[in-house]
Amino acid sequence: TSCNVAVVGATGAVGETMLKVLAERKFPIGQLHVLASERSAGEKIQFDGKTIVVQDLAKFDPSGVDIALFSAGGSVSKEYAPKFAAAGAVVIDNSSAFRYQDDVPLVVSEVNPEAAKRRPLGIIANPNCSTMQLMVALAPIHRKAKLERINIATYQSVSGTGKRAMEELGKQTAALLNFQEAKAEVYPVQIAFNVIPHGGDFTDNGYTTEEMKLVWETRKILGDDSIGVNATVVRVPVFYGHSEAVHIETRDKLSAVDARALLEQAPGLVVVDDPVGGGYPTPVTHASGRDPVFVGRIRDDISHPRGLSLWVVSDNIRKGAATNAVQLAELVWNEG
Ligand code: A2P
Repeated sequence: TSCNVAVVGATGAVGETMLKVLAERKFPIGQLHVLASERSAGEKIQFDGKTIVVQDLAKFDPSGVDIALFSAGGSVSKEYAPKFAAAGAVVIDNSSAFRYQDDVPLVVSEVNPEAAKRRPLGIIANPNCSTMQLMVALAPIHRKAKLERINIATYQSVSGTGKRAMEELGKQTAALLNFQEAKAEVYPVQIAFNVIPHGGDFTDNGYTTEEMKLVWETRKILGDDSIGVNATVVRVPVFYGHSEAVHIETRDKLSAVDARALLEQAPGLVVVDDPVGGGYPTPVTHASGRDPVFVGRIRDDISHPRGLSLWVVSDNIRKGAATNAVQLAELVWNEG
């Protein structure tokens, strides 16, 4: 049998990749509906050698859809995900609209797949891209030695902000190389040739929403509210792939040598850690366009007896969003 699939936000940076990953992994699709706003209704999309017409989400009847992959922003998910679920679909939602509700599981396919089975609302949430790659790298360490504290600084690419942000980086770069003014519209300041310590919105405690997502989502996915998480989110002029400088303290001592051996066996992870001569992962050389999470620079923290430092890189649009969503669709469909 085959599965009727709807992709909501199909014309966006994540939606386009969801379609690509569904085709690559040969997801058993019956009918495929590609949905976006009325702005792009009528546009044509190529899928697996076929042409499919984009439909207006607001006019779409969800009955008959088995699995719906949503990536059109929080307000669209809030309004339409419950309607799709009421019509019988399982919704896999890439927005943050439902992530913190107790009755919505938050699932990384390699880390807590069993959580996807309990979904009273018919909605499963896909984690934030930065948390996603962090969990693939840290869950094996947590199981072995219990994480006490995580200190993280991210180096996040512009694709995480969406297509307009990618265009802004391209346009600003071209403008500046031609001695013209760089206009900032998507980000508050120039992103080309710059770094911006600001992702999402600032909250009352001085952290941003993107930083607090790392706190809340880590605890929910690992099922441990005692883990301390301290994050600084930084946007960098990279198109695809988020990087993370990660400093952890574990309850039990875990050496860098043992951590490396553990991570080499972990699902979804590739260890690239022969740093002399460039043997470390970067967005451009390793992650962009690929599914694994890459880890390198694994070393004992010289400032703490139970500290470890590592460098974690992954394509935020693939594993960080689209690929995990499709993996969750596979989990749901394989339940039978
Ligand atoms: P559209 O192309 O019609 O605007 P990105 O994150 O790359 O900016 O993509 C956002 C995605 O969400 C796009 O596919 C966009 O469609 C879709 N989208 C945005 N607002 C709505 C809406 N109100 N209804 C349906 N789809 C929407």
